[in-house]
Amino acid sequence: MEVNFKITGQWRADAVIVFVWKGEGPDEACGCLEECAPWFPIAPAWRDFSGNKDELALMYGPEKMDIPRALVIGMGDARKASAAELRDAFATAIRSLKNRSIRHIGIDLVSARKAARLCGMSAESLVRELTVLSSIALYRFDRYKASKSKGIVIERLSFFIDGDSCPGSIRRAARLGEAEAAGICFARDLANTPANLLPPSALADAAEKLAGRTGASCTVLGPRELAEEGMNAMLAVASGSRQEARAAVLEYPGESAEGPIILVGKGLTFDSGGICLKPAAGMEEMKSDMSGAAAVLGVFEALDVLARSGIRPKRTVIGILACAENMPGGSAVKPGDVVRAKNGKTIEIVNTDAEGRLVLADALAYAAEKFSPGLMIDIATLTGACLTTLGTGSAGLFTDDDALAKRILGISETVFERTWRLPMWDDLFKGLESTVADMANSGPKAGGSIRAAVFLKQFVPERTTWAHLDIAAADIADTPVNPKGTTGFGVRTLLALALGE
Ligand code: BES
Ligand code: MN
Ligand code: ZN
Repeated sequence: MEVNFKITGQWRADAVIVFVWKGEGPDEACGCLEECAPWFPIAPAWRDFSGNKDELALMYGPEKMDIPRALVIGMGDARKASAAELRDAFATAIRSLKNRSIRHIGIDLVSARKAARLCGMSAESLVRELTVLSSIALYRFDRYKASKSKGIVIERLSFFIDGDSCPGSIRRAARLGEAEAAGICFARDLANTPANLLPPSALADAAEKLAGRTGASCTVLGPRELAEEGMNAMLAVASGSRQEARAAVLEYPGESAEGPIILVGKGLTFDSGGICLKPAAGMEEMKSDMSGAAAVLGVFEALDVLARSGIRPKRTVIGILACAENMPGGSAVKPGDVVRAKNGKTIEIVNTDAEGRLVLADALAYAAEKFSPGLMIDIATLTGACLTTLGTGSAGLFTDDDALAKRILGISETVFERTWRLPMWDDLFKGLESTVADMANSGPKAGGSIRAAVFLKQFVPERTTWAHLDIAAADIADTPVNPKGTTGFGVRTLLALALGE
């Protein structure tokens, strides 16, 4: 999708988007369109349009006009306007366009600015959101279907400017939105791909391929290298599968000499639970247990898109994908087995389904040892308990660093990735006592997400600034902005962190 800006006199599109609040008529809603779409204020369909929430109308003018159609979106009561509702309304509206020959969408920034103001958004944020949504709300994953769904692809998105120049901050917002959308779609494609077609080796290959066509470098560790590094917790997770474990390490060089920002993603290409087998219902969703790793790769994809418009992170960005498949094969790790992790600590694996923390333990310890991280964030579909706590759509944030928590929560709000801080109470470590090892990998059910975070903490040196994002509740959705399937959650928050926002 091409995103551009058109000054007065150049306003043209297959359809223009118009937001209308309850009680408004064409004059209040879009007086500025009169010149390029003189038919619009007198379109007969206005007679039955009242601006109620969820109301949608596609209005038609003569075919030869610069703007021959308008997609009018009812927004409801202006006093109750919110950014979340505006996003949903816009996503629903453009998804309704399927099966029509609309390829070029126009948005006039005069009326859109008013919409932004009512919703408490800046013009920049609005441009960024509409850009992101124009591609992620129309996302489809039909690679393996004979009958491709008759979707719509917006080939061009034009923002109409009143006047003859566009502020740089608005242009930057569109560039950010494009990059975020590319990163999200990249992550969704990977996370939607079935486990038979995306084993750990293929996920690592995807990382190498991405690095190869961008400015990043990539090193992949296989079973031999993992053993040499003492990453036995990761190897234990992979031991019940015919698929070998992989750790992929990507590096995107920054200009500053400050410590790098390290993003560590859980990359379980399938989580059957292992010997502690999961119930059958819904098990297929565990093909997306690598959503954390996918989000990290999405950030690198987005960085590449941004580099094309000259936007680069100051600090070096390092991504580590901890890839394995958790299966109950004959050589699988068994409850009661003890392994020594990368940092020397021993773990009694009492539950083979608590495997995410095992691969992350080694990856976090590896990252801290090899690089001197200025900041380290891990992202993982880690605990079902997080879903119980937060419901679908939100991530749990764990960190001891209040300033970092504040920064991440601030970012998550601006990029609409809802995140909630949960405590990291060290005393929950008591539940992980083992009679034979330094710790067990699982304990009582109560406080499961917190205990998982406290477990991870044992593998992060105290001097390292670190946060853990549990996205088990956020990686799959079915909403207006997210057609049923994986979400790409985390790409936007992590990208903003990488850019130093
Ligand atoms: N991948 C799962 C967590 C998960 C559950 C993600 C549901 C998305 C949706 C993780 O590996 C897991 O199995 N966690 C266990 C931990 C328990 C055994 C301590 C869980 O949450 O039940
Ligand atoms: Mn599991
Ligand atoms: Zn898992």
